[in-house]
Amino acid sequence: MSGTAVRPAFGRRPTMAEAMALPAVIAAEAAPAQAIPVHSAPAAIIAELRTLCLGRLDPAAVAAVAPERLQTEVERLIGEIATDRRIQLNAREQRQLAGDLVNDMLGLGPLEPLLADDTIADIMVNGPDRIFIERLGKVYQANVRFRDTEHLAGICQRIATAVGRRVDESSPMVDARLQDGSRVNIVFTPLALDGPYISIRKFRKRTINFDDLVGFGTMTQQVASILKLAASARFNVVISGGTGSGKTTMMNAMSQLIDPGERVVTVEDAAELQLQQPHVVRLETRPPNLEGKGEVTQRDLVRNALRMRPDRIIIGEVRAGEAFDMLQAMNTGHDGSMSTIHANTTRDALTRIENMVQMGNMGLPSFAIRTQIVGAVNLIVQVGRQRDGGRRVQQVTEVCGMEGDVVIMNDIFKLEILGEGPDGRFRTRYAVSRDRPAAHSRLAYFNLDQAWMDALDSE
Ligand SMILES: Nc1ncnc2c1ncn2[C@@H]1O[C@H](COP(=O)(O)OP(=O)(O)OP(=O)(O)O)[C@@H](O)[C@H]1O
Ligand SMILES: [Mg+2]
Repeated sequence: MSGTAVRPAFGRRPTMAEAMALPAVIAAEAAPAQAIPVHSAPAAIIAELRTLCLGRLDPAAVAAVAPERLQTEVERLIGEIATDRRIQLNAREQRQLAGDLVNDMLGLGPLEPLLADDTIADIMVNGPDRIFIERLGKVYQANVRFRDTEHLAGICQRIATAVGRRVDESSPMVDARLQDGSRVNIVFTPLALDGPYISIRKFRKRTINFDDLVGFGTMTQQVASILKLAASARFNVVISGGTGSGKTTMMNAMSQLIDPGERVVTVEDAAELQLQQPHVVRLETRPPNLEGKGEVTQRDLVRNALRMRPDRIIIGEVRAGEAFDMLQAMNTGHDGSMSTIHANTTRDALTRIENMVQMGNMGLPSFAIRTQIVGAVNLIVQVGRQRDGGRRVQQVTEVCGMEGDVVIMNDIFKLEILGEGPDGRFRTRYAVSRDRPAAHSRLAYFNLDQAWMDALDSE
């Protein structure tokens, strides 16, 4: 399609009614509330230009233009309109307005630059003019905003529609995934009092491995060595931590050590795991449809996974009844299974698993559940985000056995904060327990018992 052929269809001529409808310049106070600070021309002029421009864009023609050419075409159209209406606009403003329009038409509007920025890990939208980002473990307010609530609501609608859902007063909460794999949660009015709210966990294009985590200071080489041995000896591992503490990232890193010959089944609410192995079967839950039917829970999927001849089962995060089925899987020959859990300490993680099992299986006595847990889980890794913005392994705990009805645990590593450096970063070390591991016979079976003791002695 040549540039000259596109022009008339792309930016159609204004009709007489449109040309008469808006004065060339609206008094500056007409719409100050919608000001978007990044433009220097008066907001009302920008708003007028936007309306005129949108009015002259033919959706069919827009769809036909390659996305990378759209910006140029829109810029040209804005230039034309500005000249027609004698509106003063410099080249930068013209480019900026065209960029905003293109982002609105094709993407997520003002969130696009944040999505494109790889240093941003999370994007949190609390209503049209309060947008926060997380960068290097710290949260900042972003220098972008939506024009108004309708603008933001429109973008929410677009995210939901893309995954075949809708978001409105009758279904005000939606989980979705963006095209690039980022995880999104939307909460709409009336639940969102100042909303709509959007929370985006950006998808990292490059997976993080153990060497990266050591490089980031998330753990020492020694901790990494022990975790590698645990993965090689097919320990059943639970990764515990708070929201956004790095649980999924840690599990992704550990999963890289799985032998390529194994059949791995993953079960997730929103697929985030990035397993590199060739023989991976990925399952994702399904929310109920608009009539409230057709829901498939994690529990359903874990049960089904057991019938798929898995070597290992990986559950994105246990939150409910599937905890019971996870223990069953770990106890019945699917060694090397993994999951994450929301908990504050490694002991708390066990209590949470116990509670989840209890809630899904009323009447099962605590003692029986604990025995199951002790038989199933070998190792718990606690990750956390500290005040200095760093994400670190806080505890690596072995589940050793029962004494009476108390679960015996041993902290192989425990993070100690020694103080704060001049750069505001914590100085830390690990307290190491050199006890003989309870899983000694398992390590010996894999011929890794000596390597384990050597790793503990390595510092
Ligand atoms: N060790 C780390 N160092 C630096 N950044 C990290 C580290 N671990 C995770 N991150 C980043 O922090 C963000 C949150 O990580 P992740 O998704 O693993 O957390 P999570 O605990 O699984 O969160 P949620 O509770 O929401 O499931 C991601 O953007 C990730 O890239
Ligand atoms: Mg996670």
